[in-house]
Amino acid sequence: MNCCLNLLDLENNKNIITTQNKTHQKIVIFQRIKAKKLSIMQTTKQNSTIASAVVGVPTNDISTFYKNLHSKFNQTRQRTLSLCQDLQPEDFVVQPMADVSPTKWHLAHTTWFFETFLLVPYLKNYKVFQEEYNYLFNSYYETVGKRVLRTDRGNLTRPTTEEIYEYRKYVDNSLSLFFEELIKNNEKNNFDSETEAEIKKRLFIGLNHEEQHQELLVTDIKYVLGNNPLFPAVKMPIEDFTIFKSKKEVENIEDKKEDFIKIKEGIYQIGFQSEDKEEFYFDNEKGVHRIFVEEFEISKNLVTNREYLEFIEAGGYQNFNFWLAEGWDFVNKNKLKAPLYWFEANENWFYYDFNQKENGLQKLDLDAPLCHVSFYEAEAYSQFRNMRLPTEHEWEIANEFFEWGKRWEWTRSAYQPYPNFEKDEGALGEYNGKFMINQLVLRGSSEATAPNHSRYSYRNFFHADKRWQYTGIRLVK
Ligand SMILES: [Fe+2]
Repeated sequence: MNCCLNLLDLENNKNIITTQNKTHQKIVIFQRIKAKKLSIMQTTKQNSTIASAVVGVPTNDISTFYKNLHSKFNQTRQRTLSLCQDLQPEDFVVQPMADVSPTKWHLAHTTWFFETFLLVPYLKNYKVFQEEYNYLFNSYYETVGKRVLRTDRGNLTRPTTEEIYEYRKYVDNSLSLFFEELIKNNEKNNFDSETEAEIKKRLFIGLNHEEQHQELLVTDIKYVLGNNPLFPAVKMPIEDFTIFKSKKEVENIEDKKEDFIKIKEGIYQIGFQSEDKEEFYFDNEKGVHRIFVEEFEISKNLVTNREYLEFIEAGGYQNFNFWLAEGWDFVNKNKLKAPLYWFEANENWFYYDFNQKENGLQKLDLDAPLCHVSFYEAEAYSQFRNMRLPTEHEWEIANEFFEWGKRWEWTRSAYQPYPNFEKDEGALGEYNGKFMINQLVLRGSSEATAPNHSRYSYRNFFHADKRWQYTGIRLVK
């Protein structure tokens, strides 16, 4: 997410050839990315904002730009509500574990975000809907003040869900007024250019923040319902997720069914780079830099339920040899023997999911990509197969050669700042940087991710024990 002028002027030299191996055909890809300008680091260092390159919009198109953004804003806010269309009033309130936030909290918090970071500072004569909401719906922004403990979000029976829907309407209407102000500003010049750039940046962050919470809303309510012994069948309109097709076919090969793609050793560029000034990205993706990787082979496919079941049936959860020490403690302490939402009955495996015809519990689809595993389980499975998880760099380098978008893919990379990472000033500087400790990077996106939300450089992150996101496994050898 950045206003940066990310004109890296790169030239990608990619040569693709194939070779024969004695046992089976191998695909060898030589990918050499050459930076024409050695001033990359200096260029990216100037990119100190989080939001994407909205500054570059020509002034005469500014009305159209804001009209389009307003329309996108309305669609995004509406999509959040559509995710709740099949929920019952009681579903909106509970918080069965600390990681899960109640649905109504998501609805309010995303609204609070727009109110706090846009309307309060920039809309003239704006009156906050309810002063106390700052305490109730601030998530983690120390700059903004004290807040309800995360673990207590499910104790808030008031405000009611209905009142939160009113809050959303109030803020949406105020934002419509604000968009009108921004369009008028083109003629009246109410905001100076620096202020307007900051407003644009915050609008983009607000939209992407709402999209992130759409996914959290889905995963959180799945945890609520998937742990209910009634396993209610619920419709969740998330079919609009994006599949990122492989962009590059490996040429001149006879066997296109080869499961692993070989990437040659070399120096590669990592980090968000685009000549599209309007493309959005987060601060944790910026800072293009070069890294060296050894040759590796990455699977074209995600691990399936059928493959993971082999691990279970081979006693994978009972064999310490596959597990990291922390992972072994984790599975034993929690008596785990399968991924989250898997249930065994009469020697058959069942799985809880949305959009089922009758009961939310269905027979396990063996061909579906595995979902809802922790990093510990992903790592143990890779050991079982005598392989490993990719690093986040390997994933990014290879992503154009495989399809992705169904599962967030665990990597073996710690969530660290890229070289030249800079926190934004003020409260929004708390968005990503302060979480760069004790977490692992996940790449890709999932069936629960809002459409077109992710990209090849997107860095998601979770602690190693988390299983309630749509997480899966891709192997490297
Ligand atoms: Fe948030």
